[in-house]
Amino acid sequence: MKSVVITGVAGLLGSRLAKWIVENKPEYKVIGIDNLSGGYEEHIDSRVIFYKADLASDDLNGIFSSHQVEYVYHFSAYAAEGLSPFIRRYNYTNNVVATANVINACITHDVKRIVFTSSMAVYGEGKPPFNENDLPKPVDPYGIAKYACEMDVQVAGEQHGLDWCIIRPHNVYGCNQNIWDRYRNVLGIWIYQKLNGQPITIYGDGSQKRSFSYIDDCLLPLWNAAEAPQASKQIINLGSKKEYSILSAAGILQEIVGGSEIRFLDKRHEVHVAYSTHEKSEILLGYKDITELPKGLATMWEWAQKQPKRNQFVWPKYELEKGLYQFWK
Ligand SMILES: NC(=O)c1ccc[n+]([C@@H]2O[C@H](COP(=O)([O-])OP(=O)(O)OC[C@H]3O[C@@H](n4cnc5c(N)ncnc54)[C@H](O)[C@@H]3O)[C@@H](O)[C@H]2O)c1
Repeated sequence: MKSVVITGVAGLLGSRLAKWIVENKPEYKVIGIDNLSGGYEEHIDSRVIFYKADLASDDLNGIFSSHQVEYVYHFSAYAAEGLSPFIRRYNYTNNVVATANVINACITHDVKRIVFTSSMAVYGEGKPPFNENDLPKPVDPYGIAKYACEMDVQVAGEQHGLDWCIIRPHNVYGCNQNIWDRYRNVLGIWIYQKLNGQPITIYGDGSQKRSFSYIDDCLLPLWNAAEAPQASKQIINLGSKKEYSILSAAGILQEIVGGSEIRFLDKRHEVHVAYSTHEKSEILLGYKDITELPKGLATMWEWAQKQPKRNQFVWPKYELEKGLYQFWK
């Protein structure tokens, strides 16, 4: 039976796309790989064949040779952009070395196409809306890692004939997102804080702008990224058209959760205004911007309240303490 491999299957994109494929594309078997460093096994649909493995260090040939793998979604990553300068080695190992291993496996086992999720982080302080033709200029190790992977995927295409599609998602949120990590996923951090009786926190004055993309709207486009002929060898931004200031997004959350105090923290080194073009995703992947932030966030809040109580993840030892923000010490 034809198979699809999803790396990072316990995470937001991985677990949700795995379930979508199981339900909508029954001709494919879904093989999931994850080391559970940032995702939860209970988020993986029981019909997925799951392998617990670390992509940065484990041999993937056993998994790939046991299945007839047609498409690979390479979603696994540690996407803590602001923290990445303080965990450089981990960032590059987990994001770049892991991707090299996945590419090796794809070439060795004649995979039809790899879909790699890069990030809007590759654009750095570009001029929004970021366009796929802009020259990337990342401003942190996470963005640099994603850009390096993008280039490596393309070189594997040129030299070894591996077909690819690179997706640059932006601020995807929804049910199954990790809300227990204090370093990433702003909406998830706020939800955790509200659930634990803490004020919600904002870095700087909240005038930063982002567009928040609801996971359900991204699933069919992700499938098309693997299957549609027109998505072959394309780099495509993916996500919502509407941008919000962080402060106004916090206001929307406050309404949904019935109020919450806001605590302003020191400004971070981060891109101030970041949102992308969407035309290419609409034309090539059939993206439709259906779910507005208030609706998507209300659904995520409903889900979050039913989740088990977990401790927030705190990095046990940073690689670099110099320049570390007070709020992470
Ligand atoms: N969610 C977003 O807003 C967003 C935005 C831009 C880009 N992306 C990219 O999309 C992809 C998926 O994002 P997500 O939000 O689902 O992330 P996520 O953190 O929810 O899921 C990532 C999964 O990868 C796993 N993983 C990490 N390192 C691993 C390793 N070495 N070996 C095996 N498994 C490993 C984690 O355990 C986790 O389950 C990532 O590559 C991310 O960089 C996400």
